[in-house]
Amino acid sequence: MTPRGIKIISKTFTHLMPNKTDLKYKRILFKVSGEAMMGDKGFGHDVDAIQRICNQIILAYELGCEICLVVGGGNIFRGISVAATGMERASADYMGMLATCINGLALQNALEKRGVQTRMQSAIRMDSICEPYIKRKADRHLEKGRIVIFAAGTGNPFFTTDTAAVLRAVEVKCDVILKGTQVDGVYSADPKLDKNAVRYEKMKYNDVIKQELKVMDQTAITLAKDNKLPIIVFSIKGENALCDVLQGKGKFTIIN
Ligand code: GTP
Repeated sequence: MTPRGIKIISKTFTHLMPNKTDLKYKRILFKVSGEAMMGDKGFGHDVDAIQRICNQIILAYELGCEICLVVGGGNIFRGISVAATGMERASADYMGMLATCINGLALQNALEKRGVQTRMQSAIRMDSICEPYIKRKADRHLEKGRIVIFAAGTGNPFFTTDTAAVLRAVEVKCDVILKGTQVDGVYSADPKLDKNAVRYEKMKYNDVIKQELKVMDQTAITLAKDNKLPIIVFSIKGENALCDVLQGKGKFTIIN
């Protein structure tokens, strides 16, 4: 058991228990990509990949963070791609929002099996499955040390889960939004395709907007900018990646 009562399921996990000093952000929103939940599979859920994500979340929890999660749905359904093949965009987006609920339940289940208390709130009412999104209730859950999972995006078509992440982070007054990706920050070009691509340590919101960098959609960046919410982009691959970033260590790009 960890100090906050979480089950440790892997021996290799114990040495990662964080040192509680240097916590840079207290209340955080961690945006989990749907693709990260499928691991090397082409679709759906990979148990090991989900456990790895949970390890990172639990380490951040042990560090003393209040944690909100927004999860994407791309491992199950990608609204924009399906809309491109002819389906009405609004319908495709609603299907994508349902996919985020499936992922939210998978994360909730995996975290609660480890002894972490969670509450899931959906932007689209589905009362038999989870709570509706109520900001003040989310605040109370966070104060009580529960991890809050925000599902169903913003509840509206034509918005991404990145925008939902920024919106919820602003509403519940998170100190930062953390976006875990496959690369260790924002680059001037795709580092997999262009070996001259440069990684930025720091960026201004306007630079991301002007350069049309694909790190987050423009609506999300603009909303973060208007509300002075810092965004950190980092690689989710290291075992301790999220905690490192929260302590100002490792490689990442901060947009503020
Ligand atoms: P406190 O009021 O701080 O004690 O929070 P709580 O979440 O423990 O209390 P509440 O009685 O609101 O919820 C008890 C359980 O029911 C929790 O697991 C909630 O997630 C769940 N719950 C609450 N409202 C709903 C709902 O509308 N739908 C579903 N499916 N579950 C709900």
